[in-house]
Amino acid sequence: MDFLIEIVLVILLALFSVFVWWYGTIPSNVPPGPMGLPFLGSALDTYKASTLYDTLSKWRDRYGPLYRIYIGNQLVLILADWNTIQEALVKQGDTYAGRPSFHTIFPEELVDSGLLNSEGELWKIQRRFALSTLRDFGFGRPIIEPRIKDEAQYLSDAIEAYKGQAFDPAPWLSNAVSNVVCALVFGRRFDYDDEKFRQILSSLRARFAETDFSIITSFVLSERMAKLMAHVPVVKKVLKSTIEVLSFYREETSSALKDFDPGRDEATNYVQAFYKARLDREDKWAFAEKQLIASVGNLFVAGTDTTATTIHWGIFFMAHYPDVQEKVYEEIRKETSGQSLLDYGDRVKLPYTEATVLEMQRMANLLPVGLYRRTLAPSKLCGYDIPVGTVVVPLLGAALRDPEVYPNPEVFDPNRFLNAKDEKGAVFSYLIPFSAGKRICLGESLARMEMFILFTALMSKFKFYFPPEEPKPPLKALVSILNVPIPYKVCAERRSD
Ligand code: HEM
Repeated sequence: MDFLIEIVLVILLALFSVFVWWYGTIPSNVPPGPMGLPFLGSALDTYKASTLYDTLSKWRDRYGPLYRIYIGNQLVLILADWNTIQEALVKQGDTYAGRPSFHTIFPEELVDSGLLNSEGELWKIQRRFALSTLRDFGFGRPIIEPRIKDEAQYLSDAIEAYKGQAFDPAPWLSNAVSNVVCALVFGRRFDYDDEKFRQILSSLRARFAETDFSIITSFVLSERMAKLMAHVPVVKKVLKSTIEVLSFYREETSSALKDFDPGRDEATNYVQAFYKARLDREDKWAFAEKQLIASVGNLFVAGTDTTATTIHWGIFFMAHYPDVQEKVYEEIRKETSGQSLLDYGDRVKLPYTEATVLEMQRMANLLPVGLYRRTLAPSKLCGYDIPVGTVVVPLLGAALRDPEVYPNPEVFDPNRFLNAKDEKGAVFSYLIPFSAGKRICLGESLARMEMFILFTALMSKFKFYFPPEEPKPPLKALVSILNVPIPYKVCAERRSD
């Protein structure tokens, strides 16, 4: 009996020592947060996709808008309101501009490369190059508008072909939005009946809808841990679909380069410009094949389902809020003399419509947990000491649903944006669906243009409503990497010209 008691005491003492050692490893002046378990930290609490944002929000209520958790032995800092996001990502932009390695969801050739996954000098060169090259091809400038309007027309034709029958708008929206990026990146578009392209887009959408955050949180664990994770079925599935899409990027890249002579020809798309950059730039080391494929992939993925899903939400909201839909339609009809394909500049004549697009983005809350960053140097944040290599989560959803900024945050109400311009007369600066700081979304200007032109084209041509014979789908999201609306069908009735 004594012997048994001794064993129990030894085990308890060992456990106690492990806890003491574990908590002793937490640096002294970091923000407060849950203790978690030795070796695992809070990994078990953050495991499920469907609850990650809720779990992080609950901790926000307990620890305030700046707190820390551990995933394994990795320190993770949560920025859970607009102010802490500004203090870190904007005011200390260089320090907070790193990106952790996404070992678990990307094959090795995409890890630490391209626009989205690199950091340091490689990222700076790639980002500067992408911004200036894409601007030359029309990014955020009126010269891209005819291309977006063409897609708006194709999209409207595809929707009209349903003749008021219920349909799922998601595939058509992905195709339309993706074609704008494909024109810039590969110099071509894909017909809506191109089966192979539809397959690629559908596999991407499924990946966004199914990718569990448990995979994402694990990417801040070690490379060794990622290798173990590679055997988990859901990780295998994600990697397999990424590899399939990689071969699409390779094929399209070589088609874009077919008959292109970098020494002689002017580049007419991103792939060609990238290839040409290898000729005479001093920093040509940053333009290797791996970087080309990775950055093409980043533009394709980041530029497709983000914008398309926001418009997908937009149609969902309009069918749920027919009064808002009518007001938008009436404003477009009155102020633009019935034109259906508008310019982005027309938004100044359409304050209610513009406010509706902003509210659409706020409520869509597309990336509620943001994209993880990493600190590149030690820093002081709100009086705390943040070590180099800390993973940083800008909890964008908390900023978009902050009741102090947006009273009744769960209600869809465009009126909240009607007079809410910042000092430059631009969009409301508290609205940060594109994140903030040095790594703010690279495609923001294009996305804003696409959302406005495509949304107004649809609103001016159709009235969207749920099939009357079926129960109305609830305004709910499938929570994954992206907040995607639950699958739904709508009817689109052609408005009279
Ligand atoms: C409504 C549409 C979109 C939303 C809400 C959105 C949101 C975001 C967010 C939250 C980030 C992470 C920024 C951070 O690190 O904190 C991001 C990054 C990025 N986005 Fe977007 N995005 C959209 C559309 C686009 C489009 C159309 C493109 C390109 C054609 C694009 C390209 C990128 C790229 C390349 C990055 C990585 C930037 C970097 O790491 O330097 N995005 N986006």
